[in-house]
Amino acid sequence: MSSAPIFINFAYIISAALFIFGLKMLSSPATARRGNLVSAVGMLLAIIVTLLNQGLDYKWIIVGMAIGSVIGLFAAYKVEMTSMPEMVALFNGFGGMSSMLLAWGEYAQHPQMSVFIAIVAFISAFIGAMTFSGSMVAFGKLSGKITQQAVVFNGQHIINSLILLITLAAAIFFTMQPDTAMGIKAFYLILALALVFGIASTIPIGGADMPVVISLLNSYSGLAACAAGFVIHNNILIVAGALVGAAGMILTNIMCKAMNRSLANVLFSGFGSATQAASGGDGPQGEAKPATAEDVFYILEAADSVAFVPGYGLAVAQAQHVVKELGDLLEENDTEVSYAIHPVAGRMPGHMNVLLAEANVPYDQLVEMDDINPRMDTVDVCVVIGANDVVNPAALEDESSPIYGMPIIETFNANTVIVLKRSMNPGFAGIQNALFFRENTRMYFGDAKVAIQALVAEFKS
Ligand code: TAP
Repeated sequence: MSSAPIFINFAYIISAALFIFGLKMLSSPATARRGNLVSAVGMLLAIIVTLLNQGLDYKWIIVGMAIGSVIGLFAAYKVEMTSMPEMVALFNGFGGMSSMLLAWGEYAQHPQMSVFIAIVAFISAFIGAMTFSGSMVAFGKLSGKITQQAVVFNGQHIINSLILLITLAAAIFFTMQPDTAMGIKAFYLILALALVFGIASTIPIGGADMPVVISLLNSYSGLAACAAGFVIHNNILIVAGALVGAAGMILTNIMCKAMNRSLANVLFSGFGSATQAASGGDGPQGEAKPATAEDVFYILEAADSVAFVPGYGLAVAQAQHVVKELGDLLEENDTEVSYAIHPVAGRMPGHMNVLLAEANVPYDQLVEMDDINPRMDTVDVCVVIGANDVVNPAALEDESSPIYGMPIIETFNANTVIVLKRSMNPGFAGIQNALFFRENTRMYFGDAKVAIQALVAEFKS
């Protein structure tokens, strides 16, 4: 298939193997950094051998690489950990745009294409362009530059379906006669419709669901790259694109499962829009029992085992370092310390793992939800820090709840539960939490960082 010399294809096989090993290593926090490096080495090798191919004009390649490297380096140093999803959205978008430009450039140079190449050029251009515009909307929503609310209006699905139908008609025109004036017009129409479709299909999704959308767009950018690989006969682009496409799809699936929602529900329901989230609803009522820093200190000081359950509020407050400090003090006090991690705690995949790794929490103290739940009744104190939905018993008990069926960390089975948050306000799903009113729960109100600092001070005094 490829016209590249044998040694280039051989190097591509090594690159592909490095990508696969790298991906595998990304599945555990302990090996993730190395996995990233292994994949990066694979990519470097692929780039170097590709540049050794005959007949390249290095001038523009060097200019492009220089600009890209400076932007990438600057972004990597500058971006805050909590802004990572936004950056990934931007990068996905640029990946999609590259695939679109590749297909476009190849078409402009060789308009006489076989039907197969015209089909993959269409796929690359369409998916690439919609990934670009969709990712820009996702970036805008996450960074608060455009409304986070799901923008929903009557007839939206009909308009989106019409766009797809017209695109299909244009694609048939284009693939049948790419080298005619009609074919060229059809190609430009496809590009324009794809850009509109990317926006139209992303605006109805609430800002808080954007991580799932970004993962999906990531998968699309892989598919577009894979198709672009067929267009320009580049084997490593086909493999890398397929890997990104599959990995993005798997991650999307994991996130949906962890929220017990279908992908269709994420994409079309407008869930998590600002209006929904703002309302507390008629949830469980009762009397919550507040606790002071001193109360919590005495409870913790007497505990044999403490499990921290971090959530979105920990990320907002940037409390990871001070939580680690408290964990160390507890260990000095002979308390067994662990961190229970829910797969969709926070707002992006692996959010809690990343934050706790940043604070140098040892990996062996991180316990997955499925591992801690069966032995939760042996935990003395669960300290829920800025988490809400992922510990809400309604997910198990209330069939009418929007989160019913979502697996949760079953903190209520611990001896004592301390819930640290600023108020009784609901979390992402916009629903009240019966855990706050349980007999064994104490509410410790405050900003996560400030409140944990107060506990650290108690331990030190
Ligand atoms: P949430 O249910 O959103 O609850 C976070 C809680 O943190 C809020 O109730 C808030 O209460 C508290 N909080 C905010 N700022 C705080 C601060 N500075 N100090 C202390 N507390 C603070 O978070 P969760 O339990 O992590 O659940 C995640 C939700 O996001 C789930 O519903 C999940 O389905 C959804 N989601 C996750 C992902 C991924 S991939 N992680 C993707 C899409 C959606 P106060 O305002 O009272 O402080």
